[in-house]
This record gives sequence, C-alpha cells and structure tokens, in this order.
Amino acid sequence: MKWQSFSSSLLTAELRYIQSIHETGDLQNPDALVRHFLPVFRRLRLAWLSQKKLATLRSLPFYYYLVARTKYYDRVFLDAIAENFQLVINVGCGTDTRSYRFEHVLKRYGVKVMECDQPGSISNKQVMTMRLGTFDHVTYVPVDLNADAWPDFECQLANSNTSKALVMMEGVSPYVNVETFTQFLGFLANKLHPESLVIYDFKLSGVKDDFGLVGQTQRPFRLTSVRNEVASYHRELGYMLEQIELSSELSTRLIVGLADSGAPLYSEDAFVRLITM
Ligand SMILES: C[S@@+](CC[C@H](N)C(=O)[O-])C[C@H]1O[C@@H](n2cnc3c(N)ncnc32)[C@H](O)[C@@H]1O
Repeated sequence: MKWQSFSSSLLTAELRYIQSIHETGDLQNPDALVRHFLPVFRRLRLAWLSQKKLATLRSLPFYYYLVARTKYYDRVFLDAIAENFQLVINVGCGTDTRSYRFEHVLKRYGVKVMECDQPGSISNKQVMTMRLGTFDHVTYVPVDLNADAWPDFECQLANSNTSKALVMMEGVSPYVNVETFTQFLGFLANKLHPESLVIYDFKLSGVKDDFGLVGQTQRPFRLTSVRNEVASYHRELGYMLEQIELSSELSTRLIVGLADSGAPLYSEDAFVRLITM
C-alpha cells in the first residue's frame, strides 16, 4: 500500500475513532466500527488521549467538519437505499465502514456495494474486513483515479449495473489529478444508468493549492464554488447539478449548536450532488 494514501485514510480513521469515544451527543462521530481498522496499541493510545491533546484537536477546523462529513455521507448512503438504489459504489473508500455498519439495511433491501480504492489499499481493506465477518454484498475493486482507464472497474460495473446507482467519493478528489478525475466523472456519466447519483466533495480553488500534491498527483483537482460554473463544468460531462453546499454550511447544518459554539468552521471544501442525464 502506498504510504501517502494509507496515511490519509488512517488519519481519517483515527480521528473518527477519537470522535466516537471522546465526544457525545451531536458532536459524536457515528462510526463506532472504525476501531477495527486501527492496531490495538494505537487504539489504546487514542483512548487515553490527554485533555490537552483533545483540546488541540478540537481547535482544528477539520475536526468537527469530519463529524459533519461522516453524518452527511451516512445520510446520503441510507437515503439511497431507502430510494431503491440497488448499487452503491464507494470510490476511494479507504477505511470507510458503511458497507459493514449498515450491513443489515443493505441486505434487507438487496443492495450491493463496490468498494474501490488504489490496488494496494483495496486488497489491504479486503484482508482487514475478513476479520470482521463475511460480507457477500461487498465486492472489492482496484481503481487508480490517476490512471486514464479503469478496466477492472469497468468490468465489475458492467456486471452489476442493472439500475440506477449511487457513487460517492468522500475526501478523495483533492488527492487526484484534475485531468483524470474529470475523465473519470465523464466515464461514470457515460456508463451509469440515467438518474444515478454521484456525490463528492472537493477543495475550493485558491484555498490550499499544494494540498494533495503527492506521488503522481501534480495538478490536484480543484473547483470554484460559483454555482453556474460548477453546473456548467458538470453539464458538459453529462450531469445535472442538483446541489452545491460549502463545507462550513454543511457543518453548521448537521451539527446543532456548532455555529454558536465558537468552534472554528472548516471553509476549504464544498460538496456537489449530481444526477446523470
Ligand atoms: C482521506 S482518505 C478518505 C477515505 C474514505 N473515503 C473516508 O472518508 O473514510 C482518501 C482516500 O482516497 C484514496 N485515493 C487517493 N488517491 C487515489 C487514486 N489515485 N485513486 C483511487 N483512490 C485514491 C486513498 O487511498 C484514500 O483511501
């Protein structure tokens, strides 16, 4: 597994774990399963974090944003199941646990999940989840979004693509080159059933230009928050833009009291909700 991609996904897992055990109420991260993706010694260290270290974490704008982001994609995931989507495709899934946390709902509605990530990361995840149980509703598919073709993904999609799908890419686009990410969006619009849903978040242009500059990624994906421009970029690729929301708006919408708490808001990212035409 490549260290950089592993580290971003592991950092997310650690923060979610901390938020699941050290926070309560609306500030608590709903991902209580993520602990299984952390080594035992690491879990113990995080369980005994000092109040000083917790206070430092809580002062970072990203900290509560991650709680809101987790809640947001949880809602997107569960709404899609309730709305009869038969396939969920999680690209850049990392240590995301939704396929296992929501196993009962997925199985009740007969929904299949394609978990996709870079080859090393996805085979690692497949091995790690074997320890948690047998999940025959989940398929593991290698995808490198910095490549310009995705033969394994295309083949798996051709076998599973019987009705509209939800594609979600949580915290992924800032690590991928703009050209191939755009190409992948176009590919999805072309291959997915009409009225499929594609949801992802991105870093706003001009905010932190060097973020995601690792390995093969030299021109990390960025977009403006100007609605017309975002709509037109996606229209050309085959999508209708249903919603765009800033990370700060999403955080205050999903965490009651955050706006008045004095906690710093994360204002680097935005979310789009797209429908294939
Ligand atoms: C910040 S983590 C987010 C993981 C997960 N979506 C979550 O929110 O828990 C970023 C993820 O993007 C994946 N990623 C980075 N570059 C990628 C690429 N070129 N192709 C596919 N996935 C990539 C990483 O492997 C990692 O799992």
